Amino acid sequence: MTSRSVVTVERHITDQERLHPEATGALSDILRHMALSAKIIAREVNKAGLVDILGAVGRENIHGEQVKKLDEFADDVIFAAFDHTGLLCCMASEESEGIREIPERFPTGKYALLYDPLDGSSNIDANVSIGTIFSVLLKRSDNPRGTEADCIQKGRDQIAAGYVVYGSSTMMVYTTGNGVHGFTLDPSIGEFLLSHPDIKIPTPGKRIYSVNEGNYGRWSPGQRRLVRYLKGADGDNDKPFSTRYIGSMVSDLHRTLLYGGLFMYPGDAKAPKGKLRLLYECNPMAMLVEHAGGRATDGKRDLLDIEPTSLHQLSPIYIGTKDYVDLAHRFVEEEAAEPVGA
Ligand code: AHG
Ligand code: MN
Ligand code: MN
Repeated sequence: MTSRSVVTVERHITDQERLHPEATGALSDILRHMALSAKIIAREVNKAGLVDILGAVGRENIHGEQVKKLDEFADDVIFAAFDHTGLLCCMASEESEGIREIPERFPTGKYALLYDPLDGSSNIDANVSIGTIFSVLLKRSDNPRGTEADCIQKGRDQIAAGYVVYGSSTMMVYTTGNGVHGFTLDPSIGEFLLSHPDIKIPTPGKRIYSVNEGNYGRWSPGQRRLVRYLKGADGDNDKPFSTRYIGSMVSDLHRTLLYGGLFMYPGDAKAPKGKLRLLYECNPMAMLVEHAGGRATDGKRDLLDIEPTSLHQLSPIYIGTKDYVDLAHRFVEEEAAEPVGA
């Protein structure tokens, strides 16, 4: 990369803002603060194992999951990066049952920020890549301090979405609806540099399917037939797919965005709506993948069209190369209408 082409995420955000003369700059500032949060979290993630930041904090979150120290650290970093900025009316985090209000002493703004502070927590102690996912909504209520309803909007109404993947390098990927752009952190200068401009999911893309087959015993007949077909188990597919499953949604989706493929977290007999949260995992990823030319559904309809009813609601997810999501629908769509199981 010559010095001429060095585009920092800050410059890219400013350039994107210039495309919208009516812009106030608030959305740009949200993205800048998210980039700063990512650098601080990346520093701790990269030190994890050397300092006492691994392991559990000894309590469960509302999803019944062990809260890891890095979950809590990342949650606090993001909240503290935004609470005083006057950009947000409120926040919603995977780690908090209700919305996170802006402290009275600080001004508020017109956006709501939803986030999964650390995705893939179960992988932290094994040094497997993890991530942060975020979604930006426009406040709808006339309450300056926001309401839960301001955070419960359908994915199609997102203003921006993105993730950070803390892997062999730290990358930030975001969209404001004008392309999907990836930035790689250069630790030597502490800047995110544009490394993946205007990401388009390869079509047809690599024949990769990504799902936790450990749940096979609880899947619907259609889901089972789909995965057996993908891997050529019944001799009815002369171009069987490879399987890749990292167990961190951000990492599995980052690979899917760059290589193509199909990521699934289906519903099953024990968890009819699967495990992933609609508002701050599925919807931001769906916005990114759709703007990169892919598709994202719950097995029946586009995820972004689902009218949410609660902050932490779950949704099955089929996301990636459009042709592969369409293929999945040929096996599972008729079942997605009814509760899975039986
Ligand atoms: P989180 O760590 O934020 O709770 O998310 C974990 C999610 C997601 O990252 C991943 O795709 C999924 O859990 C893996 O679940 P399984 O272990 O059931 O496959
Ligand atoms: Mn997650
Ligand atoms: Mn999480």
